[in-house]
Amino acid sequence: MKNIVLIGFMGSGKSTVGRGLAKRLGYRFIDTDYAIEEVTGLTVEQIFHKHGVKRFRGEEALLVSKLASKENLVIATGGGLVLNPENVKKLRENGVLVSLEASAGVICKRVRSKRTRPLLAKGNLQEKVERLLAERKEAYQVAELAVNTDDLSPEKIVNIIYRYLV
Ligand code: S3P
Repeated sequence: MKNIVLIGFMGSGKSTVGRGLAKRLGYRFIDTDYAIEEVTGLTVEQIFHKHGVKRFRGEEALLVSKLASKENLVIATGGGLVLNPENVKKLRENGVLVSLEASAGVICKRVRSKRTRPLLAKGNLQEKVERLLAERKEAYQVAELAVNTDDLSPEKIVNIIYRYLV
């Protein structure tokens, strides 16, 4: 069966929902950030700081090439992975893309407690989130299903996606 690929901004709930959805479907769960950390032996933060964003995007592209030929996976993607159209093309070949949406205010609340994301680490959080969200709006529109997560629990979101799939 096709992979289910969760896309969307940081803090939209991809990892939490992905884990729940994988359990429900009996699929394997893959978090691209975590998989990259395993392969490189570095944290996402370390990759950004030591080698820069380009290297991180390179690792994402490598991983996508490996995952695209696999099946029965729920993949939670890093928020910037779909900025590369090649990644989208490959993931679509064997996957259903589902976008998790959230408003800037909600994202700020969700990510505030752990500002471990290099792209949000410095400066005014609300401004950064708003700017990046606007820049990426189009990139997230490649999904065939979009779920606004602002007022929904992860369980409800899992149900919505599950019902869409079956
Ligand atoms: C990024 C999102 C992060 C991680 C990296 C870059 C982005 O993943 O891949 O910090 O460009 O939006 P999450 O969306 O899982 O936080």
